[in-house]
Amino acid sequence: MVDWDERFSIEDYLFGAEPAQALVNLEHYLIPQGNTLVIADGEGRNSVYLASKGFKVTATDASTVASVKAKALAASRNVEVNYQVADFFDIDWSTQQYDNIVGIFFQFVPPDKIKHVLMNLRSATNKGGTLLIHGYTPQQIELATGGPKDLSLMYTKELFEDVFEPKEILVNKEYQMQLSEGSGHKGQSALIDFVAKC
Ligand SMILES: C[S@@+](CC[C@H](N)C(=O)[O-])C[C@H]1O[C@@H](n2cnc3c(N)ncnc32)[C@H](O)[C@@H]1O
Repeated sequence: MVDWDERFSIEDYLFGAEPAQALVNLEHYLIPQGNTLVIADGEGRNSVYLASKGFKVTATDASTVASVKAKALAASRNVEVNYQVADFFDIDWSTQQYDNIVGIFFQFVPPDKIKHVLMNLRSATNKGGTLLIHGYTPQQIELATGGPKDLSLMYTKELFEDVFEPKEILVNKEYQMQLSEGSGHKGQSALIDFVAKC
């Protein structure tokens, strides 16, 4: 199991201080200025970016070290984000309701739980709201330029097609590109973008 507090205990931002390129590319699918939850937000690069674009942002992550760095990033950019340190699996998803939910590289959900987790995220997204997910596909194991070394934690188009109705899916695309996101995500990468209108 990854010790995220230890990984984040470096001076630099492990995945950089700028948002994931996929989030910038897909931002137009989000409800503008909506009430937005960023899950497994890490050191805040994505939550801070969204707050700077006028979204009302709540961000969660289990790492206290990441949360301290995220708060510092938000302060340095003069934006407000409601940061909550919480284990993803301890959150009562039935009480959550957001216009947008954003999950970038939250690749810690075991295969026997991922479909249930995706259903929870869908039900926590307001009707007409947006669920945006970005992460690695199985080809990333060979590329080894970031992410867990565990094939069972990768996302595929088929995984999302199994959970979401065709009419809900706006984007479900696997591709490869060069990433340069801190020292954590660097080099040719096998990626997937997924957007659903729930
Ligand atoms: C690869 S990092 C991605 C961080 C951020 N989304 C980004 O793209 O910069 C994975 C994140 O998942 C968080 N995480 C891992 N297991 C978690 C859990 N059970 N509950 C909440 N967060 C968790 C880690 O602390 C870490 O910040």
